[in-house]
Amino acid sequence: MMNIAVLVSGEGTNLQKIIDAIESGQIKNGRISIVISSKDGAYALERAKKHCIKSIVMPKEQYSGAEDIDRALLSILAEHDIGLVVLAGYLRILGNKVIKEYANRIINIHPSLVPSFCGAGYYGIRVHRAALDYGVKVTGATVHFVNEVTDGGAIIMQRAVDITPQDTPETLQLRVMEQAEWILLPKAVGLFCDGKLSVDGRNVIIEE
Ligand code: GRF
Repeated sequence: MMNIAVLVSGEGTNLQKIIDAIESGQIKNGRISIVISSKDGAYALERAKKHCIKSIVMPKEQYSGAEDIDRALLSILAEHDIGLVVLAGYLRILGNKVIKEYANRIINIHPSLVPSFCGAGYYGIRVHRAALDYGVKVTGATVHFVNEVTDGGAIIMQRAVDITPQDTPETLQLRVMEQAEWILLPKAVGLFCDGKLSVDGRNVIIEE
């Protein structure tokens, strides 16, 4: 059974979809061992509590700097024997030490079709605003492995979502979640836990 750590900062709707997929048996070979939040009071923590999942808050005021946060994070991950780290709306950039230690074992969900509208500064509602400002007709979501480049790791799965003339950043954000993120993330986590993902350079091969 794969021990999963889910890192969050906000609402935790993506976390909820992973919890649901485990409880329904869609994810068979993984369990959430720990939820780690960068923010105290994040609603994601309530979701963890409701499902009796252990959680830890790591507010930046408690640490002397980014390296200190990385050190603490690595020790929590080791302590829980974590095999997969899922960034589910985690708003902090992971340090290189963590990325190296967990190479090809950290998954992120990004609410656009990478490499569009991604990288530094593209997070949350900003991503959707940028897509609408640019005038693209299609956006979507991307699940990818995490490397040193923000949103730049090998792509596991993508799903497209149409943009309508009536869309606002808020309506688009919700539709991207409903039609793409909430489907892709549990799927990718399940495949990883089943040992069905392998990485060949920039290509992720999914075993059928
Ligand atoms: C999602 O859009 C995710 O793609 C992005 O941040 C949002 C988090 O939502 N990285 P939630 O906390 O899972 O509800």
